[in-house]
Amino acid sequence: MTTQNPLATPVLVLGASSLIGGYLLDRLRARDIDPVAVSRQPVADACWVDADLTDPRLAERLTPAGTVFCLAPIWLLPAALPALKARGATRLVAFSSTSRFTKSDSPEPSERAVAKALAQAEAAVIAFCEAEGIAWTILRPTLIYAEGRDGNVSRLASLIGRFGVLPLSGHGDGLRQPVHADDLAAGALAAATAPAAADHAYDLTGGETLTYRAMAGRVFEGLGRQPRLLSLPPALFKLMLTLAKPFLPGATATMGARMARDLTFDSAAARRDFGWAPRDFHPRF
Ligand SMILES: NC(=O)c1ccc[n+]([C@@H]2O[C@H](COP(=O)([O-])OP(=O)(O)OC[C@H]3O[C@@H](n4cnc5c(N)ncnc54)[C@H](OP(=O)(O)O)[C@@H]3O)[C@@H](O)[C@H]2O)c1
Repeated sequence: MTTQNPLATPVLVLGASSLIGGYLLDRLRARDIDPVAVSRQPVADACWVDADLTDPRLAERLTPAGTVFCLAPIWLLPAALPALKARGATRLVAFSSTSRFTKSDSPEPSERAVAKALAQAEAAVIAFCEAEGIAWTILRPTLIYAEGRDGNVSRLASLIGRFGVLPLSGHGDGLRQPVHADDLAAGALAAATAPAAADHAYDLTGGETLTYRAMAGRVFEGLGRQPRLLSLPPALFKLMLTLAKPFLPGATATMGARMARDLTFDSAAARRDFGWAPRDFHPRF
């Protein structure tokens, strides 16, 4: 059992309309905390502030803050930090991504740019918080899913639903650690109240490490279907992906090659410091 501080209130949730946002709002309310949800799209059943994090007059829109959870892309955060400080923030838990590491050597320039933006934003957040006396925690999830809502696992589920079969590039032997959005909400809350998590960054993996192939098999199971996976030669898979690109927004030529790569991280520090205990991968659709 890790030691816990009380959560500094009021609580602001930036990027409250994200995959993790709804789960975090629910978990805060279960603790009798009424969070303020900040985003550009309305957030149902919450005290919502319509604000753009890039707005130079952000401080005027924000309500007072004690703890701030940032679920919006971390590269938007450095410009918003002075406004958060002005509204009283003393504790920050911000999500980054393990893409900071996995995409840094991608052949795709746009992916390398994402990795660079993540690394630069993390450094800027840490520098600001240390200069201004805000306790910070950065959480880097791997691949996030929330049944029916994400662009990773749920996208596989919808492809399987449409075609009944899932093509793979080669055998799909690369290792994955899918992590549920609700576990990340629980982890963010635990980190915000664990003294040991202040001023640290953590990689957050799901409860299981499994091959891309096994992960896809579990998605079939979650749909109540027998797995039907089709291993294609990588060059053929790449050609198929290129042809299907107009119908698969966000698909890149590197996706096939990545299926053979291990994208694994270690969450031991998070387990030790704030009791990180994510679920195994058994999605249900
Ligand atoms: N999805 C993944 O697999 C994955 C993996 C690793 C890390 N992450 C990181 O984990 C966090 C949550 O990911 P997610 O996929 O759940 O996020 P998401 O669904 O893409 O949501 C992003 C949030 O940021 C808000 N946002 C974006 N631009 C904004 C702006 N200019 N002003 C105010 N709000 C803005 C969006 O709200 P509005 O559009 O309503 O403003 C939304 O609530 C992010 O930091 C992401 O980088 C995601």
